[in-house]
Amino acid sequence: MDAARARPLSLQLFYRAPSYLIYHREVNAPLASVGRVDTFAIGGELEVHRLGFGAMRITGRGIWGPPDDPDEARRLLRRVVELGIDLIDTADSYGPEVSENLIAEALRPYPDNLVIATKGGLRRTGPGQWPRDARPERLKECCEGSLRRLKLDQIPLYQLHAPDPKVPYEDSVGALKELQDEGKIRHVGVSNVSVAQLEQARAIVEVASVQNRYNVADRDSEDVLEVCESLGIGFIPWFPLATGRLAEPAGPLDRIAREHDATPAQIALAWLLARSSMMLPIPGTSSIEHLEEDLAATRIELSLSEVEEIGRARQG
Ligand SMILES: NC(=O)c1ccc[n+]([C@@H]2O[C@H](COP(=O)([O-])OP(=O)(O)OC[C@H]3O[C@@H](n4cnc5c(N)ncnc54)[C@H](OP(=O)(O)O)[C@@H]3O)[C@@H](O)[C@H]2O)c1
Repeated sequence: MDAARARPLSLQLFYRAPSYLIYHREVNAPLASVGRVDTFAIGGELEVHRLGFGAMRITGRGIWGPPDDPDEARRLLRRVVELGIDLIDTADSYGPEVSENLIAEALRPYPDNLVIATKGGLRRTGPGQWPRDARPERLKECCEGSLRRLKLDQIPLYQLHAPDPKVPYEDSVGALKELQDEGKIRHVGVSNVSVAQLEQARAIVEVASVQNRYNVADRDSEDVLEVCESLGIGFIPWFPLATGRLAEPAGPLDRIAREHDATPAQIALAWLLARSSMMLPIPGTSSIEHLEEDLAATRIELSLSEVEEIGRARQG
């Protein structure tokens, strides 16, 4: 092992809970590994590193059909696991079915520590089309399909992809509770929810995670994140690499990125990790090179003032 790889590295993460506290942890990990990131226990028991992988982009264009090179997608998934990432997010609707099938083909037998988080509740009617369908009977079919494709007896984290305006939300969540009672789901997550919908879900089932769009440029779900922080619920921000106008020349992300010899997207990811100890970003890519670049964001030590500056910044 070369000297650089053997060198102990220290990681300083700053997060707000409720005021800025400083979390410091020594790690000694190879450079290309998720090992330097701290962990979060989903549902209080499934411990994962706080940087996961989003498996939506391993499908065809418009998240429709197979990828151009399925062998490369399988290599990418194996690299995800080799790098120590132990949370993979997918959905029956990615492809549809393509992402889940590739995960099973590439990764079985699954490592013991791997947490596969899948979702149900959307239909696919064509590239880029995602009509909602969260009727209880349909969710049960979705879950059975995911169990079959992933070749699992139980799905570690099953998420309701989105509320369906045609179905009372409590009916959709109730279906997931029944699946959990039957042992088909270990933990239940919700996605694309408001605070009120999260409360509705929590009245029916123990909610282990929330997956909403959240990134440096889009903090619409700040209120939902704050509820998750106060209750110890994992918050999975989707579209985590978006930077919007904050990355424009002379914008805060651009300047901080140059100071760290990093890209604005890496700073965006480092900020999410620093923002909350409940935050579980799942950057997605179809490329091993991009995966490794995304992972390198975990090496970035943002100062408290940088975390606060980005925290104050909003897309103009
Ligand atoms: N719950 C929901 O409703 C919902 C909605 C959307 C997504 N998700 C989940 O969230 C995950 C992440 O969301 P997302 O894929 O929309 O957003 P993202 O991870 O923020 O961005 C993915 C995009 O960034 C590109 N990218 C990744 N790393 C890069 C790098 N190092 N350099 C340049 N480009 C890079 C990817 O293209 P390349 O493939 O070329 O790298 C892809 O176009 C998805 O995989 C999925 O699991 C959930």
